[in-house]
Amino acid sequence: MSLSIGIHDLSFATGEFVLPHTALAAHNGTEIGKYHLGIGQESMSVPAADEDIVTLGATAAAPIIARHGAERIRTVVFATESSIDQAKSAGVYVHSLLGLPSATRVVELKQACYGATAALQFAIGLVQRDPAQQVLVVASDVSKYELDSPGEATQGAAAVAMLVGVDPALVRIEDPSGLFTADVMDFWRPNYREAALVDGHESIGAYLQAVEGTWKDYTEQGGRTLEEFAAFCYHQPFTKMAYKAHRHLLNYCGYDTDEAVIARALGHTTAYNRVIGNSYTASVYLGLAALLDRSEDLTGRPLAFLSYGSGSVAEFFAGTVVAGYREHLRTDANRQAIDRRTEVDYARYRDLHEWRFPTDGGDHATPEQTTGPFRLAGISGHKRLYQAR
Ligand code: HMG
Repeated sequence: MSLSIGIHDLSFATGEFVLPHTALAAHNGTEIGKYHLGIGQESMSVPAADEDIVTLGATAAAPIIARHGAERIRTVVFATESSIDQAKSAGVYVHSLLGLPSATRVVELKQACYGATAALQFAIGLVQRDPAQQVLVVASDVSKYELDSPGEATQGAAAVAMLVGVDPALVRIEDPSGLFTADVMDFWRPNYREAALVDGHESIGAYLQAVEGTWKDYTEQGGRTLEEFAAFCYHQPFTKMAYKAHRHLLNYCGYDTDEAVIARALGHTTAYNRVIGNSYTASVYLGLAALLDRSEDLTGRPLAFLSYGSGSVAEFFAGTVVAGYREHLRTDANRQAIDRRTEVDYARYRDLHEWRFPTDGGDHATPEQTTGPFRLAGISGHKRLYQAR
């Protein structure tokens, strides 16, 4: 009998501050309908100067360690595309902040927004090899585009932590997967740049091409039919993208594009991303969290996942919701992670956007801004100094 492996626990964290799109629209003269309806975004999380992918990742993962302990975790996979170091994995800092055992392997994975799905699939492979082990997957990103660019309205920041193991309490991940890779320059970030470069309209086309490609492979591999899925969790760089993607999939499969059918298929998956913004690797799994937190009972229902990472790699796969999952959700904590953010005005957001460390190797403390459990206290001799509170 094949093992049941999947997501045993899921927790997320987001930035200290939030910028409503009304403030951005007032600054750049955009009609607010473009943001609220056109791209489907209401606000975006903005990290404090003393937050980064490490503090967000540790904040997301800490409740999982508190609930389950770390005895069975022998691997931490940290997925990100806003890496802070070209050599050292951000996961090693998280491992230290969480006090995980030294008998752990820790690694960082990258392929744009797709990285967390690669991490999840690799984790399943490790658990398959030794079912006694669990893998901690952390997907953490700060999405940053140039000020006053079209991408600016699709920024955000969040981390999702997932505990992967046998007999999962939330979602059992299934075989097969539909896979798709294409060498496209739709979105990229050279090592010398902090903000991503993007050809926005090409990126939407590349995403839709990947939806087709993954679905074709998924069906060829013997996957489920479209009708079997209770809901579709898409990567959401902005929530309207999920609508575009599902419409495209329906058309590709020969169905009419009925707006009500699309809305039903997406269910509540857009609720968190709409107010957090693009969290790159974390985005699909924030979609899952919102769906599980807000839907009627989904026990036994298959869910579809479409993970897309620019450049591009994508995967379509399925997961089935496990009986009793509702007792393991973190709905109140999730609401709290979003509600606790402090709203900033445009000027404060701009200051935060422009904040960066000097690169002279000196001692530089960060302003104390975050109220979260972990902070980036400063940098000294090119070393990042983290603090647990
Ligand atoms: P833009 O070019 O400024 O916007 O930027 P637009 O002119 O295309 O308008 C957007 C939508 O708003 C359009 O709807 C307009 O009609 C509508 P659509 O035709 O698309 O259905 N609109 C209005 N609606 C209501 N009332 C109004 C109004 N005005 C206009 N008054 C763009 C949009 C997404 C291109 C830009 O924000 C951008 O470049 N974003 C970054 C790239 C991105 O998110 N791409 C998504 C696919 S790639 C991906 O998902 C991977 C990624 O996450 C990275 C990774 O993998 O690492 C990005």
